[in-house]
Amino acid sequence: MEELSLAAASRFEELASSRVAQGKNFSAALSGGSTPKRLYELLARPGHHIPWERVELFQVDERCVPPDHPESNYKMIRGALLDHIQIPASNFHRMTAESQDRDESAGKYAQEMAQVLKPGKDDWPRLDLIFLGMGPDGHTASLFPGSEALDEQVLWVRPNFSARLGNFRLTLTLPVLNAASDVIFLIAGADKAETLRDVIEGPTRVSQLPAQGVRPVEGRLTWYLDQAAARLLVR
Ligand code: 6PG
Repeated sequence: MEELSLAAASRFEELASSRVAQGKNFSAALSGGSTPKRLYELLARPGHHIPWERVELFQVDERCVPPDHPESNYKMIRGALLDHIQIPASNFHRMTAESQDRDESAGKYAQEMAQVLKPGKDDWPRLDLIFLGMGPDGHTASLFPGSEALDEQVLWVRPNFSARLGNFRLTLTLPVLNAASDVIFLIAGADKAETLRDVIEGPTRVSQLPAQGVRPVEGRLTWYLDQAAARLLVR
């Protein structure tokens, strides 16, 4: 896990620095769950030359709980990263998923993305980098197998119900994930090896394996895997 997280942290720094060197701000979307936490901790460590004042951070998805709830992705990201770096508060864009009106929250988040990312008319917003994880069931972001949001072709962000978890999440949709310049999957652990093999080497069945739906249109897709997760892949 450490090697994976170190590699991802230096890739973040590389992409952010080159974007800022071009005189532009760098935008990235961060996933929740347990795998990226070490990456966020490493990004917060001194010694990185990340121009945080020129970095706009978004969330890939969020659980419908308050921001100080143990299940909150924001809480994890804040504790591992935000509390330890000099980033302007307005540069972190939190999903207000605790709100009763989830559709309204999703709409507000899309507006915030539009203000910062300034996509052309009818274009999808283009993030410079998105970090994704994958569950043992093949879900990514909060796009679960057989869930409604998997087929979304209009909204950038929307609520999505997980039958397995029995609750809602807010999530970026596949077209937004696929509009990014760089998408990096961070996947660790033996419990994901079979699913990962099916996602990468198996027949395409996005409704059952949502991670297969991540295919950047013009961008780059990179897999950062630990040995345990990669053990069944054909080398
Ligand atoms: C979340 C995530 C989700 C996560 C996977 C993998 O809110 O849970 O964004 O998509 O990436 O569930 O989670 P782990 O890293 O904990 O295995």
